[in-house]
Amino acid sequence: MGKIKVAVIGLGVMGQTHARIYSEMAGAELAAVYDIYRPHAEETAKKYGAWAADSLDALFGMAELDAVSICTSDDQHYELAMLACKHGKHVLMEKPLATDLDEAKAIVEQAEASGIKLMVGHTLRWDPRYYHARETVASGKVGSPLHLYARRNNSYQNGLRLKGRTSVLMFLGVHDIDAIEWVTGDRIVEVYTAEVRNRLKEFQVGDAAITTFKMASGAVGSYETSWVMPDHYYELDAKLDIIGTAGAINIDITGQNVQRHADGRFSYPDTMYGMEMYGRLTGIMKEELTSFVLAVAEDAPLPISAREAYRAVQIAACMERSLSTGLPVAVPASNDSFQEGEQ
Ligand SMILES: NC(=O)c1ccc[n+]([C@@H]2O[C@H](COP(=O)([O-])OP(=O)(O)OC[C@H]3O[C@@H](n4cnc5c(N)ncnc54)[C@H](O)[C@@H]3O)[C@@H](O)[C@H]2O)c1
Repeated sequence: MGKIKVAVIGLGVMGQTHARIYSEMAGAELAAVYDIYRPHAEETAKKYGAWAADSLDALFGMAELDAVSICTSDDQHYELAMLACKHGKHVLMEKPLATDLDEAKAIVEQAEASGIKLMVGHTLRWDPRYYHARETVASGKVGSPLHLYARRNNSYQNGLRLKGRTSVLMFLGVHDIDAIEWVTGDRIVEVYTAEVRNRLKEFQVGDAAITTFKMASGAVGSYETSWVMPDHYYELDAKLDIIGTAGAINIDITGQNVQRHADGRFSYPDTMYGMEMYGRLTGIMKEELTSFVLAVAEDAPLPISAREAYRAVQIAACMERSLSTGLPVAVPASNDSFQEGEQ
């Protein structure tokens, strides 16, 4: 197979990254772009020499199109995924799969029925630090994990810009929920979550959520996620600590291992996720998109299945139910919790 033809739908922060990476990739051609806000589509199309589709009918009517990246906001994934399935186009969906559990399930069922490849961009699956943690745990060097701590805190500016269209657990939490199970090879079986509402209350969403959880092996953990970190602080404060019977592993992304002082203050620029090097975007996002393109072009295995992405939404939904009931919530524990639905 030659270059696969891809379209990007939703051309905000992430859509721009997807569009640029495809346009620079040897195995892919950015054939088309689409956004409900027409100027986004026209500007992006001009930049990369792609076609700015003026409707979804026109976009999905492109017989030669192989795949789409769906990079619309969290609450705008379902209908686009269903359309892609209907038209037999492979999908790279930005996380979360969907914010509604029934919609997430329907997407997986439709993707499986239509035979398309559906990959959800759980970025940590391509992060070398998390991959290394998984390999270390799998090698037995840590022994059996006993207790864990994970954190993903983001800036207030990010919380503000999303205007309550999603929750902190669906937007950020799904990353670590998936990573905790993937790295440990264990299953979260119970969650108990508390939140604080203050700086984002005008949008009726929480500022931060803290969860304690139990795993099928008996390990216990806690997870913190926030999108109200103060201005001029860290852009991203993410951690994973696992203490096992024979060892431990710690990931700390907060300082990025790069400290810059300019304009009278320190900053910690990202060099891992998506950084320009020799005129091209490199890093974790490029690895993620490369996996997807290889899966479509060469039938290579996807590093994350649609059902695993569903499970991350399912556990985040259990955390949200714990918030609304004030009680611990049991999480389906089987390897294929997709069949069990919400308990
Ligand atoms: N993998 C990661 O680390 C990561 C990081 C940030 C965001 N995300 C995810 O990426 C997705 C996009 O986030 P973002 O920050 O780029 O959002 P954004 O608000 O910057 O951009 C969304 C774009 O989609 C367009 N849009 C909205 N609804 C649409 C529709 N129905 N049809 C076509 N276009 C539509 C908007 O006009 C906008 O241009 C979200 O699901 C988010 O959770 C992932």
